[in-house]
Amino acid sequence: MKTLIVYYGYGNHTRMIANMIKEELGCDILEIKPKIPYSADYQTVVDETEDNLETRETPEIEDINIDLGNYDKIILGTPVWWYTITPPIRTFLTTYDLSGKIVIPFATNAGWLGSTFEEIKELCKGKVENELSIKFTTEHSENKLLTSNKEITDWINKIK
Ligand SMILES: Cc1cc2nc3c(=O)[nH]c(=O)nc-3n(C[C@H](O)[C@H](O)[C@H](O)COP(=O)(O)O)c2cc1C
Repeated sequence: MKTLIVYYGYGNHTRMIANMIKEELGCDILEIKPKIPYSADYQTVVDETEDNLETRETPEIEDINIDLGNYDKIILGTPVWWYTITPPIRTFLTTYDLSGKIVIPFATNAGWLGSTFEEIKELCKGKVENELSIKFTTEHSENKLLTSNKEITDWINKIK
């Protein structure tokens, strides 16, 4: 089975976890980037995306220079934004057909997961399984992991 990690991160939490998985599995990694980056000001992003759950926006994302057909397993990482997935990950899931693949999502968040995994399951044609919520402190800049390292490494070993 060939594995690809696909993730979007506004800050560094999701990237950090994605890189941790890459180190463990030695697999390929792809960062999703919106064509128009979000504001550098955190509070502006929070305010501007307040209706994420209702509007379910799909902003344009940069072309991916990778052939998804080469992979059987996609590890999909997203922060939680307003109780669900981030818009760039929504664009990825609605643009690319992941049928026939195993999709293993993880969501970094501050304790309010909402319907994140439900939306992934709704949009994704692949087989979604083994989802993991990874919690950090609410203080954005602090970057402190609350989910134990053991829980994360056990999960990585399970999805290998
Ligand atoms: C726009 C925005 C909305 C957020 N909404 C939620 C939320 O609904 N639930 C939650 O637990 N955390 C929420 N957070 C916190 C992030 O999910 C958390 O800090 C995440 O780990 C950030 O990942 P990143 O550093 O990779 O961008 C929100 C953060 C932002 C910027």
